Amino acid sequence: MNNPQKRLRFLITAGPTVEPIDPVRFLSNRSSGKMGFALANQAKKLGHEVILVAGPTQLKAPKNVNLISIQTALEMHDQVLKNFVHADIIIKAAAVCDFRPQNFQAQKIKKEGIAENWQLNLVRNPDILAKLGQLKQKQQLLVGFAAESEDIKQNATKKLAAKNLDWIVANDISQSQTGFQADENEAWLIGPNEELFLPRTSKENLAKQIVQFLAKQKGF
Ligand code: PMT
Repeated sequence: MNNPQKRLRFLITAGPTVEPIDPVRFLSNRSSGKMGFALANQAKKLGHEVILVAGPTQLKAPKNVNLISIQTALEMHDQVLKNFVHADIIIKAAAVCDFRPQNFQAQKIKKEGIAENWQLNLVRNPDILAKLGQLKQKQQLLVGFAAESEDIKQNATKKLAAKNLDWIVANDISQSQTGFQADENEAWLIGPNEELFLPRTSKENLAKQIVQFLAKQKGF
C-alpha cells in the first residue's frame, strides 16, 4: 500500500427509486439492488469504509456497511450530496427514475370520473451523477453505470463525457441472464483513454473486480 490512508471511503448507490403517485400507486423500475449491494459488500470485504444509499429492495444490507435507505430520486439526491464530499470513490449503480409525478395526490385517486385516456403529468428528476460530475474534486473517482439495450459502448461513452466521469460501467439490460434482477452480469469498464471487458460472472465477482480495479487507481 503506498497510500497513507488505511482504507478508502466508498459511496455507493443501489436499487430503484420509487416515485409516488398517490398512497397506493407509484412509478419505479426493475432494479433489484443486487449489483449495488454486491459492490458495497465487496468494498467492505476488501477492508474499505462504505456508505450505501439504496432504494427499496428485498436484500439484506451487507455487514458493517452504513446503509441509508431512501425512496425517491430527490431523497437519493439529498443523501448522496450530503455524503459526497468525504468519499474517495463514488459508484452510482442505482437506477434512478428520470421522472416523477408532478403532484402527489394525498388521497387515493378514484377510477370513477377519470377519462379512459387519463394522462399523468411528469417532471424531470435531477441527474444526480451529472451534478457530482460538476462538483467532483481531483482526488475523487466518480464512476457511473450505464444501463443500455443497444449500442452499449457508444452510448456509455457519451454518458462518460456528458457527466464528466472517470469511469463508466456499461451493461446490457436487454438480456435476461445479465443486467436487471439477474444474479450474473457482464460489463465494459470504460474510461476516457482505456476500456476493459469484464466477462459474464456472478454480480459479487464482477463487483470484486470493479472495486479492486478502482482501489488500485487510488494506490491500494
Ligand atoms: O439492481 P440490479 O437488478 O442488480 O440491476 C443492476 C442495474 C442494471 C440497475 C445496474 O447494473 C445499472 O446499470 N445501473 C444503472 C441504471 C441506470 O439508471 O442507468 P442510466 O444509463 O439510466 O443512468 C446512467 C447513470 O446516471 C447511472 O449511474 C445512474 O445512477 C445515474 N443517474 C441517472 C438518472 C438520474 N436522474 N440520476 C442519476 O444519477
